[in-house]
Amino acid sequence: MDDSQVLVASNRGPVSFKLADDGTLSVRRGGGGLVSAMAGLDGDILWICAALSDADRAAVRRAEDGRLDEYGAGAVRMLDIPVGTFHRAYNAVANSTLWFVHHMLYDTPNSPHFDARSRRDWQSYEAYNAAFADALARDARPGAKVAIQDYHLTLAPGMLRERRPDLKIAHFSHTPWAPPEYYRLMPDDIGRQVLEGVLGADHAGFHAEHWADAFIDCCASVLQAKVDRVARTVVHAGRVTRVGVHGLGVDGVSLRARAAEPDVRARRQALREQVGDRKLIVRIDRTELSKNIVRGLAAYRELLAKHPEWHGRVVHLAFAYPSRHDLPEYREYTAAVQRMAAEISDEFGDAGWEPLILQVNDDYPRSLAAYGLADVLLVNPIRDGMNLVAKEGPVLSEDGCALVLSREAGAAAELDEDALMINPFDVSQTAEALNQALLMPRAERAERCARLTAAATALPPQRWFAAQLDALDHRP
Ligand code: G6P
Repeated sequence: MDDSQVLVASNRGPVSFKLADDGTLSVRRGGGGLVSAMAGLDGDILWICAALSDADRAAVRRAEDGRLDEYGAGAVRMLDIPVGTFHRAYNAVANSTLWFVHHMLYDTPNSPHFDARSRRDWQSYEAYNAAFADALARDARPGAKVAIQDYHLTLAPGMLRERRPDLKIAHFSHTPWAPPEYYRLMPDDIGRQVLEGVLGADHAGFHAEHWADAFIDCCASVLQAKVDRVARTVVHAGRVTRVGVHGLGVDGVSLRARAAEPDVRARRQALREQVGDRKLIVRIDRTELSKNIVRGLAAYRELLAKHPEWHGRVVHLAFAYPSRHDLPEYREYTAAVQRMAAEISDEFGDAGWEPLILQVNDDYPRSLAAYGLADVLLVNPIRDGMNLVAKEGPVLSEDGCALVLSREAGAAAELDEDALMINPFDVSQTAEALNQALLMPRAERAERCARLTAAATALPPQRWFAAQLDALDHRP
């Protein structure tokens, strides 16, 4: 990395706070690709993120100038955005509208529905993005590089460009990007504003070619921008934005080191005792509509119904961690997952065999332990920007696991030769892939798993992030 100042902006930052009854604050480090990417970086770096909870807001108010460096959080500034504005921007626009558009999740007879209230939500999204643009404009030194992350912050690049034309600005989308026909269901002016906001960046990055191509198609179709699909450039309003593909991978060395720690080893032992010598199918997700957990469970049910030879010989461990529970769609989805799991246990379970274990409490060491023991890993999202579970699983597998993978995950582009690929809507095909995966000879599984591991670790987080910054040195 060169020595220019680097600013990162994302909704969720690297730390979160907890407020005890006596008013003391404790800090917790988060996980995920971006946190890993930043962990090993030194130099002049500042991370700007939003305060997500009352405890975060308390920390910001106590900190001088909103800087949280003294909590051991690194150079972090949390923005204390008014609570109502934050909720409308995060829940109503980012996690409902934009997330639903890019993951094509709408159930169109009922939603979406854009009305006067949506306008107010949208204004909050603008204000939230402006708060980031203001903070970045204030903190950035001349010529600094700014890496703005994800769908929460699509307007910020354009707003920042207006405030500080001297900066080198990158935007990275961690989600898929919708094709124009679907993208156009948003009100026209909002659809235009989002694209023009991202095009305020010099470089717009995606995890997979498919999403980069869809973005370029939207620019051509919605903005009538001049696009070059081969060179991956978009010209609009007299500016050029380059579009790039950088598929985030995992850092195999630090992941394995984490998995070797005593808390993971203890959970591994407990899981081993619980599962015995049965085959183990694992899935690990946030309880998230795009992750397609209900169809995944339906596939497991069909496997047990069609292949009674597996009764008593297989266990499905499904980790479905809570997510975004402010949104009714997520609460309903969580209930649907739990109902389906209960049905499967009732239908097939008996005194000596628990066919399905659904774990809903977030327990990272237990997830790592499960990766190690899995014979089969099921990753079946409807659409997914990348999906790191599909990459972490093979890396941590002790005996070589077979991967059943949705063709609609960004990771499919890198892993499709050695995973068993499925259409995520085809429950029967998924059930058959699970059966094949369970039957796969051990040697074949190990060989495939080794190749999956190589692909999964090809662009570890720090190199992935460096690629975003390097792309800014090649301004068109
Ligand atoms: C996805 C998004 C991230 C987000 C994460 C967790 O991976 O791309 O930006 O942080 O989900 O969602 P949450 O709403 O809990 O931050």
